[in-house]
Amino acid sequence: MDTQAIDLFTPLMMGKLHLKNRMVMAPLTRSRAEQGNVPSSMAATYYSSRASAGLIITEATQASAGGQGYIATPGIHTDAQVEGWKKVTDAVHRAGGLIFMQLWHVGRISHPDFLNGALPVAPSAIAPRGVSTYTADGLKPIPAPRALETDEIPDIIQAFRHGAANAKAAGFDGVEVHGANGYLLDQFLEDGTNQRTDQYGGSIENRARLLLEVVDAVADVWGSDRVGVRLSPGGTFNDMCDCNPQETFGYAVRQLATRKLAYLHLIEPAQPQGEHPMPDLSARFFRPLYPGILIVASGYNRERANAVLKAGLADLVAFGQLFLANPDLVDRFRKNAPLNTPDPQTFYGGGAQGYIDYPTLDAA
Ligand SMILES: Cc1cc2nc3c(=O)[nH]c(=O)nc-3n(C[C@H](O)[C@H](O)[C@H](O)COP(=O)(O)O)c2cc1C
Repeated sequence: MDTQAIDLFTPLMMGKLHLKNRMVMAPLTRSRAEQGNVPSSMAATYYSSRASAGLIITEATQASAGGQGYIATPGIHTDAQVEGWKKVTDAVHRAGGLIFMQLWHVGRISHPDFLNGALPVAPSAIAPRGVSTYTADGLKPIPAPRALETDEIPDIIQAFRHGAANAKAAGFDGVEVHGANGYLLDQFLEDGTNQRTDQYGGSIENRARLLLEVVDAVADVWGSDRVGVRLSPGGTFNDMCDCNPQETFGYAVRQLATRKLAYLHLIEPAQPQGEHPMPDLSARFFRPLYPGILIVASGYNRERANAVLKAGLADLVAFGQLFLANPDLVDRFRKNAPLNTPDPQTFYGGGAQGYIDYPTLDAA
């Protein structure tokens, strides 16, 4: 197909799923989960009012209790959580949408307050510099984590498998493995956080092993065409770094390409200003390595999104803050209408304000 003819409103088949447009709602943590890390009773309204997106990806959701690192994030490891998510998937499906669950384990980006007093776990005992997390008692600095023993790693993989099975029971259309933004799988992948000497550290093949084993376990539950993976090559959030990101992420992306996944979801790095030139880690670098469906994210607006699709560099574009503030973003883009402005004060925690009260064009 001539990609010049494609725009945000061109439908796309993703395996057997029909996406009615190319606009993806990016995963957005909102920290409004209720008692027992059950999704908020307002979540069905929040997500279903955005069902005009071609695909919704949920906020990061812990596959096991040990994977939590921030207050009031939802889980998918208890029956009550599965029941809570069913209300969300039902509402989204009734509104004609598709919804994948983003599964995460935060690794070192946690605090003993979430872990019954235990230390967070990570590939290596390296503390993230300058990173704090909100706990029930307010903002607390994150301590140095404990390195996972090799024989604990099968439990991590099993937790993702269990979370994926529960997501299926909750009626999702698929799952996205969170391999981005400095959480556990990214901590294993990048050499700034992984100094292990077992089969999960050292070479690129070893550092990518946990990510790939998790993806394979989840694909075992769902079929690979219902599994996406999110990566953030060159991302520095959560004090991440890698000495050779093109090589590290190039290897991971080529390995993922062999698995015939639903999609690969890349957060493209911001271009740094000043004297430190960064290697190209945009879709331009990765597209030739990945023949499957590619989602790009980070700082896209209508014009840049259409341009990246027309250039053939991506198949779908995810919007974070714009979907957060505009439930009818698809309609607004179609009409080239003005957008609501996102309010960072209400991103995390709180109630309905800034969650389910951003007006649609019609309401405004
Ligand atoms: C409030 C907020 C919460 C976020 N939570 C998540 C998350 O749970 N998982 C994730 O992978 N990215 C998360 N992100 C990153 C977004 O998915 C997205 O990559 C980022 O906002 C850049 O895209 P944008 O410029 O379109 O907003 C979050 C971003 C924001 C603003």
